Amino acid sequence: MDLQVCYNAGEDTFPLPQHIRERYGSFGFPAPADAGRPYLSSNFVMGLDGRASFKELPGHVDGKTVSRSRDDQWLMDFLRAHHDAQLIGAGTLRDEANPEGRGWDYGIDDEELRRYREETLRLGRQKVLVLSGSGNIDLTLRLFSSPRVEPWIITARDGHETLRSQLKKLGREGTVKIVSVGDGAQVDLLAAMQRLRQEHGIRTLLCEGGPTLYGEFLKNRLIDEDFRTMSCQVLGESTEPGIDRPTAYGQVSYRPETAPWFRLISLHHALPHHAFFRLRYEGPRTFQD
Ligand SMILES: NC(=O)c1ccc[n+]([C@@H]2O[C@H](COP(=O)([O-])OP(=O)(O)OC[C@H]3O[C@@H](n4cnc5c(N)ncnc54)[C@H](OP(=O)(O)O)[C@@H]3O)[C@@H](O)[C@H]2O)c1
Repeated sequence: MDLQVCYNAGEDTFPLPQHIRERYGSFGFPAPADAGRPYLSSNFVMGLDGRASFKELPGHVDGKTVSRSRDDQWLMDFLRAHHDAQLIGAGTLRDEANPEGRGWDYGIDDEELRRYREETLRLGRQKVLVLSGSGNIDLTLRLFSSPRVEPWIITARDGHETLRSQLKKLGREGTVKIVSVGDGAQVDLLAAMQRLRQEHGIRTLLCEGGPTLYGEFLKNRLIDEDFRTMSCQVLGESTEPGIDRPTAYGQVSYRPETAPWFRLISLHHALPHHAFFRLRYEGPRTFQD
């Protein structure tokens, strides 16, 4: 491992094993400003141009292709180990239907971190939540049969109906937890977050993308902090008209006075190609020009 600390002003609330503390420094979350919803972090890897996916190139769309870093993989497991649950958008699940077309289970690969989560933190099996309005999800993907994780789908009325009939056809009723929030095809993100905290006890949630979902959270001012891996390469524009390579920030657009700022909480590096930022949401700042 090449991960080293440059700066770390993070809280110190987790009982990290000594050699991990030496590598990473302290780690913890602050008391949440809104106890009615989970504390929401996000984790993305992006290139120097902010892009997060070689989106139009099948088999190369995922974050692992952008990162190409063992340290980034370890850090992803480290973050998964500390959060009550993870969340991805259905677009990410659909795009990342690799390897062998069956996708990832988004589980922790590092054996030590997996045991630390289970035995020291006692956070239980990883909950991997997928957000989908349409319910258009392939329930034969690896995520839905992996023994390492507990799959949940967050949806609304229309998606719930689609998923219920799919599960019935597959003879797999009751094998995937479905949380339905609201009518129609769109999920009200604040209401969904409140439901996760108040009815399902989820205190910390790690959003692992994709850009569309993250952008919606940001617009709704629900992001508390961001973990950003900077992979020192340029992805550039798509090679195919009509498919954009997204930045990590989705469809947001701001003016100078409304642009949200983030405060730097920690900075690590794995020389010579990777930097790892931990950033806390502050919101718009005012300046006396
Ligand atoms: N570099 C990285 O670290 C990283 C991380 C993650 C993903 N990625 C890449 O990003 C790409 C996928 O990103 P994406 O932006 O296309 O997709 P996405 O954000 O993962 O998913 C978008 C989908 O989420 C659902 N959704 C979002 N907001 C919703 C709401 N309010 N109510 C109901 N459903 C909602 C919708 O699903 P339905 O269509 O089912 O309604 C929507 O189509 C992939 O190429 C992936 O590999 C990169």
